Amino acid sequence: MTPEIRILRRPEELFQAAAELFVGAAQRAVADHGRFCVALAGGSTPRALYRLLAEERAWREAMPWEKSHFFWSDERHVPPSHEDSNFRVAMEAMLSNVLVPAANLHRIEGERERAEEAARLYERTLRESFGLAPGQFPCFDLALLGIGSDGHTASLFPGTPALDERDCLVVSNRVEKLRTERITFTVPTLNNAAHVVFLVKGEDKAAALAAVFEGPYEPAKFPAQLIRPVHGRLTVLADEAAAAGLARGGARAPAGDGCPSRN
Ligand code: 6PG
Repeated sequence: MTPEIRILRRPEELFQAAAELFVGAAQRAVADHGRFCVALAGGSTPRALYRLLAEERAWREAMPWEKSHFFWSDERHVPPSHEDSNFRVAMEAMLSNVLVPAANLHRIEGERERAEEAARLYERTLRESFGLAPGQFPCFDLALLGIGSDGHTASLFPGTPALDERDCLVVSNRVEKLRTERITFTVPTLNNAAHVVFLVKGEDKAAALAAVFEGPYEPAKFPAQLIRPVHGRLTVLADEAAAAGLARGGARAPAGDGCPSRN
């Protein structure tokens, strides 16, 4: 699939474009099926987007917070109060500053002694939240992802076991180079989303972005290449610095913005 690649001149424009896309997806989802289910990205890049959504009046007032359900596409094996927690990043930058019901926050319990237990619990959370039958995957209205400078996304790191998982929704994943366990959505969970958006900023991502979208298909080396929505859309929002390695520049994606059967 050819992703829609949108290159924004400066980071401020990148995050405004991301906010517009995020709020638009939320409004369409609520109009279509009464709620918005989003999987938030971890890492540091989305923090500016989260702040914008909560602090800029136009976005804050346009977001259907009370009908939005927030999930995380991955989490570190740490408690929610830890500075590395993806949940904590989103809470501090956005969710603790808006009127979203606590029941709509579905965090990964990174504090569990075993990461595998946290993954199993989150799988149950997803199955219950989406009313899934065995073998079904959740269809997020929006899955927001980052890309690491090594081409990883979520906690799907190069050469790690989670890259090959096709049955579970969520798994724990040993990341030797970080000497840690992570909890992450699997490839089929991400690829079942109605719309996947990579939010990428900075020159340190230029080589990875070019390798993922214009290099040879080597998903073991560049796991972000595995993200190809089966029914949905794939969009890359990048600033010029991150897009500097792209030869082709922007490209339109085919329409297709939906879930096979709403769950
Ligand atoms: C995480 C993320 C990870 C992140 C990329 C980019 O838990 O770290 O899910 O996939 O999106 O590493 O991180 P930055 O935005 O900090 O560059």
